[in-house]
Amino acid sequence: MTTHPTRPFEGQKPGTSGLRKKTPVFMQPGYLENFVQSTFDAIGGVAGKTLVLGGDGRYFGVEAAQVILKIAAAGGAARMIVGQGSWLSTPAASNLIRLRKADGGIILSASHNPGGPDEDFGVKYNMANGGPAPEAVTDAIFARTQVIDSYRKLDAPDVNLTMVGESRLGDMVVDVIDPVSAYADMMESIFDFKALRGLFHEGFAMRMDSMCAITGPYAVEIFENRLGAAKGTVVHEQPLPDFGGMHPDPNPTWAHELMAEMMGPDAPDFGAASDGDGDRNMIVGRGIYVSPSDSLAVIAANAHLVPGYAQGLKGVARSMPTSAAVDRVAEALKLACYETPTGWKFFGNLMDAGRVSLCGEESFGTGSDHVREKDGLWAVLMWLNIIAARNMGVAEIMADHWETFGRNYYSRHDYEALPVDQANAMLGDLRDRLSSLKGTQVQGLVVQDADEFSYEDPVDGSISAHQGFRILFEGGSRAVLRLSGTGTEGATLRVYLERYVAGPEGLTEDPQHALAPIIAATEDLVGIKARTGRKGPDVIT
Ligand code: G6P
Ligand code: ZN
Repeated sequence: MTTHPTRPFEGQKPGTSGLRKKTPVFMQPGYLENFVQSTFDAIGGVAGKTLVLGGDGRYFGVEAAQVILKIAAAGGAARMIVGQGSWLSTPAASNLIRLRKADGGIILSASHNPGGPDEDFGVKYNMANGGPAPEAVTDAIFARTQVIDSYRKLDAPDVNLTMVGESRLGDMVVDVIDPVSAYADMMESIFDFKALRGLFHEGFAMRMDSMCAITGPYAVEIFENRLGAAKGTVVHEQPLPDFGGMHPDPNPTWAHELMAEMMGPDAPDFGAASDGDGDRNMIVGRGIYVSPSDSLAVIAANAHLVPGYAQGLKGVARSMPTSAAVDRVAEALKLACYETPTGWKFFGNLMDAGRVSLCGEESFGTGSDHVREKDGLWAVLMWLNIIAARNMGVAEIMADHWETFGRNYYSRHDYEALPVDQANAMLGDLRDRLSSLKGTQVQGLVVQDADEFSYEDPVDGSISAHQGFRILFEGGSRAVLRLSGTGTEGATLRVYLERYVAGPEGLTEDPQHALAPIIAATEDLVGIKARTGRKGPDVIT
C-alpha cells in the first residue's frame, strides 16, 4: 500500500446525480483518486465494508474501476461486488446493494450525457438503501475534497474483471458477478412473464432502442431470451465506450431513429428507449408518443394488473413540474399523492417510509419502491404487462385513459445556454411580481395564483425552498418555470406548460396547439422571448 501526497482539485462538488465532468478532467493524475478517497473518508471509511461497483460502459469506466478497487483495498474494504466488465445499470446497482445488503455502491456514469474521450464521465455514491447519497453526504464529500492531502492505494496488478468469479486484491475479496441475472430475476418476480411470453408468441412486435448504452445486455436477456421477443427486437444493444456517437437520452429529439420508425408505415406495436445508465425511459406506441407525465398516470391507473402491485399502490409521488395527470388517478383510487421538487432523491424518504410505491418525473424517469433509483426497463415492462393484461394497444390505452380521467396536455420548452445573469434577472423580476399576478387577465386566461414552490419533506421535516415558479390559471392550466440543475453551459430555462381538458370533446389535439394560449400568456407575463431575444425554445419535449 502506498500513501500518495495530493492537493485538492477545484470543483469536485457532486451535483444532482454525483460528480460529472468532461472525461479528460477525470483522467488527470490524482483527480479520480482524490474524489474517491474523499468519498470514502466522508462515509467514515470503508474498513470491513461491502460495496457494489459498476457503470454504464462508457469510456474510462474500466480504468476508473481498477483505481477504485485499489483505493478500497487500501482502505480495508472486505468485499467489492463488481459487474463483469465493470458494467452495471443504475437500477441494477441499486438492486444489488439491497439484495446483497451492501453498505453502499459506486456507479460510474454520466447518465444521459454523451460519452467518450472528449465527452462526459461521472462518479456517484449510493447508500445502503440503494439510493443516491443525500445532500448531507455529498456536502461532506465536497468538504473533504477541499482539504485532502493524500490518498492510499494498494500497489497491485489490475484485477481481471472480464470473468465472473471471486479473487483477492490484498485482503479484499473482489466478487465479479454477471451484471444482468439478478436484475432480470427481480423483473421476473414483479411481472407476469407467462403473459408476456404469450404476447410475444402471438407476434406482438416491439422495438427497444438501447442507444449503444448499458441496457442492451439487460434488454436482450429479458425481452429476447426470457420473453421470446423476436431476435433483433433490441437495437443498438452493444454498450460502446462512446455510445457509438449517440446521445443516449431517450426523448423524441435524441431517440429520433426510434421515433421515425414508430411514426412510419411499418411501425411495430410498441417502442421504447432508455438512457446511458438505464434509469430513464421513453414509451412510444404505433403512431403515438406517450409523454412521461401521461406514462406515470397510466402506470398508476393500471398497476394493480401487474402481479408485483396486485395489492394496490401505497401512494404515488411526482415532481412538481410533472403534470397533474397522476393526481387525477390518485384521487379516483383514493391514494396519497405527493408533490416533490425535481430530483429522484426526494422520493427516497417517501419510499423508505412506506408512503409511496410509484414515482415519476417529466424528465423521463419512472420507478417504484423495488429499488431506490428510477428504472427504465421496469417502466417498459410495466407497459408491456398492462398491454398484455388489457389486450389493448398503446393508442387505445391512452384514449381510454383520457376519456376516463380527462387529459392534461403537457409540453416542456427549453431555452438553453442563456447568459446566467439574464436568466437570473428574468426570474428575479418574476419573483418580485409574483404576488401581484393574481387576478391578472391575459390572453383570455385569468391568473388564479402564482407562487414559488417550497417543499417540506413530510418524513424528516427538511425544507427545500426556491424549487420553481408556478403560475396557475383558472380552469386548471399552469405554467412552471425553473432553471435546470443539470446543465453545463450557461443557464437553461425550462418552461413546463399544462392544460387540463375534461373531455369528452377536445381530447385528441396536438399538444402545442392545445397549449398555445398558455404559451402566449406566459410570454405576456414573463417576456421570455422579449428579454432573451430568442425566437423560440431550443428543445421541445
Ligand atoms: C436528473 C435527475 C432527475 C431530474 C433531472 C432534472 O436526471 O436524476 O431526477 O428530474 O435531473 O434535470 P434538470 O436539468 O431539469 O434540473
Ligand atoms: Zn440516467
